[in-house]
Amino acid sequence: MAQPQSVIIPQPNPAALFVVLKVKNFADAQALARIASRMPALTAEVAAIDPGAQLVSAVGFGAEFWSVISPAAKPQGLRPFKAIAAAGRIAPATGGDLLFHIVSKRHDLNLELGMRLRRQLGAMVEVMEDVRGFAYLDSRDLTGFIDGTENPKTDRERAAAALIGAEDPDFAGGSFIVTQRYIHNLEKWRALPEEEQEKIIGRRKADSEELADDLKPPTAHIARVVIEENGEELQIVRHSFPCATVSEQGLFFIAYCKTPDIPERMLTRMMGVAGDGLHDRLMEFTQAVSGANFFAPSLETLKRLA
Ligand code: HEM
Repeated sequence: MAQPQSVIIPQPNPAALFVVLKVKNFADAQALARIASRMPALTAEVAAIDPGAQLVSAVGFGAEFWSVISPAAKPQGLRPFKAIAAAGRIAPATGGDLLFHIVSKRHDLNLELGMRLRRQLGAMVEVMEDVRGFAYLDSRDLTGFIDGTENPKTDRERAAAALIGAEDPDFAGGSFIVTQRYIHNLEKWRALPEEEQEKIIGRRKADSEELADDLKPPTAHIARVVIEENGEELQIVRHSFPCATVSEQGLFFIAYCKTPDIPERMLTRMMGVAGDGLHDRLMEFTQAVSGANFFAPSLETLKRLA
């Protein structure tokens, strides 16, 4: 079985760095691909500074960039993020050619790896997003709700949800990534009584217990993102983290999936364009300001890019 990049399967440690880059000129594509393919080796170098910090990473490639560096072989379904605009709700597509997703117990080591990569890429790229994610309290989003409760837990469950398998053997062990940075309107959110907030998420605030069916509206976040097919829930592996300053609070949403269709369908239901007339009420309290799709090849595929 082809090996996935190291950030995907383990449960995340509390410090993350997300960097989205735009390639200035596709004439540099092959040189950039060679540098990006060294991500696992560079990660190992920086991880050796403090093995206890468990530094892991992934590099993702945007659809357009991938077509340039590997025109003959493309993962099935790889496509740019589709913007959604409906009834005043907007999920913008801001794109990006390269994503670095770095996680460990130490922000300084994440930054060290990010800076080493950035130096090698030099003037060939422009930084679009440079976001430090962190575990907030007991793994809560800044709305105050525990995030991650129903994320696939065991390695086997996470691999089954995140990794391409026999359906596209050339790219087995790879994974599709969707990223969106959200900015919350916490003033509006805090004005709601806790009971109302719980109906919007679909879970209790204190302990993340799911609301009973008769209390959980069909517009609750978890009611919109739980999609059953043939008696099974469609799964994604979320690696999202809060991102914030004292002036602005939000979430860097990032999910890995064996197909881009599943997160796309979830988002369609959240944004109210799934055709059932419903949207996710959480979207009234937060606004996506970026959106992009990437492909994280297996370690073997990544090596071939070098
Ligand atoms: C501002 C953006 C978002 C916030 C604050 C947020 C927050 C939450 C919270 C608090 C939960 C409940 C606890 C849990 O099971 O993790 C949850 C569940 C979930 N969210 Fe989100 N989420 C956001 C965006 C998204 C997006 C964009 C997607 C998919 C495209 C998504 C997919 C899911 C899924 C699949 C679950 C698990 C549902 C279940 O099985 O019960 N979320 N989210």
